[in-house]
Amino acid sequence: MKYDVKNLKLASQGKLRIEWANEYMNVLTLIRKRFSKEKPLKGLKVACCLHVTTETANLAITLKAGGAQVYICASNPLSTQDDVAASLVKDHGISTFAIKGEDNRTYYRHIVDAISCGPNITMDDGADVVSMIHKEKRHLVENILGGTEETTTGVIRLRSLEKQGLLMYPIIAVNDADTKHLFDNRYGTGQSTIDGVIRATNVLFAGANVVVAGYGWCGRGAAMRARGLGANVIVTEIDPTKALEAVMDGYNVMPMKEACKKADVFITVTGDINVIRKEHFEAMKDGAIVSNSGHFNVEIDIPSLEKMAKKKRKIREFVDEYTLRNGRRVNLLGEGRLINLAAAEGHPASVMDMSFANQALCSEYMAKNYRKLARKVYKVPDHIDKDIARLKLESLKVKIDTLTKEQKAYLESWEAGT
Ligand code: ADE
Repeated sequence: MKYDVKNLKLASQGKLRIEWANEYMNVLTLIRKRFSKEKPLKGLKVACCLHVTTETANLAITLKAGGAQVYICASNPLSTQDDVAASLVKDHGISTFAIKGEDNRTYYRHIVDAISCGPNITMDDGADVVSMIHKEKRHLVENILGGTEETTTGVIRLRSLEKQGLLMYPIIAVNDADTKHLFDNRYGTGQSTIDGVIRATNVLFAGANVVVAGYGWCGRGAAMRARGLGANVIVTEIDPTKALEAVMDGYNVMPMKEACKKADVFITVTGDINVIRKEHFEAMKDGAIVSNSGHFNVEIDIPSLEKMAKKKRKIREFVDEYTLRNGRRVNLLGEGRLINLAAAEGHPASVMDMSFANQALCSEYMAKNYRKLARKVYKVPDHIDKDIARLKLESLKVKIDTLTKEQKAYLESWEAGT
């Protein structure tokens, strides 16, 4: 079996941590039990480019239980948990190519390693596999039935491929399922981002001015949790409706040009480039903490920061202190990579349970229905989304009401009025 991980001796720790996460992944566990019996992925090769975490390991184990041969590489150079990568290889026989802190060349080599199996299904978090296949490895398409995509940024890239008529195989946008983005993006990113900032810095949120750039589902989560810790939260936005929602949710809303003078902590979650740039660094307070939780490390203009600095030193793990020519210091966290996975452990297992239940069920759906699908980006089928919500509620021992016959008829009628 081929693999490239940091150190196989870390496997015993990884194994226990994977087991711990599994305790919180009840929906995925149910799917795994069914997959073990029915083998819906029998004979298929699945290449996954995902953050290599304890939660991802449980997904990979589930796909393998379903009969798939699984190959994994990282979807970010800083997000790999090396003990998990080791355990995937040693305890679970899963080909894994991922090392925390790998340089960009190794990162892309690992993607090539994972897809060189000639996958039938691709599973992306950020669309780097799809992008690599479309740019450099087009011959692999003949074996591919379809793929799935985990994150907002990836779905945006894929829709752009589709719009230009270039998408070469069907993809299911797992991100867009309600049981994914309403929970993972909001509660998962919300908690894990603050966790990452705190683990990297140990900064006190109570009374701090925290700027959250972007009020999508991830931004809402980060703003909500920062406020929960007592921060004064400022939101920056470019979309008028989202900005208005932020105002009515009780946040201060202003342009980055003003916000940057006030902030103690910055968190970018916009999905766009250069949200914090030269003019903002120049206006920041001394000691400002700058972090990103968006998928790519493009939201903070690091090349400009490098040029502006007269001195740079690593002051703590995951903190680079830049001293600018104006004498003020800017602390950049995790090289501008997603701080929740660079300095913390990513989203908690209980929320990844639903995201990865979607991934598992969508790969099964793809294996069964690929003949009916075109070269398009598809929604997660509604029945899968609703089933996951139902199973998650059941696992939390929460019961809900059902419509009476009378209520159902009322909802279906148009005659009834005042
Ligand atoms: N994305 C965010 N958190 C994650 C996690 N814990 N595992 C895999 N992907 C993630």
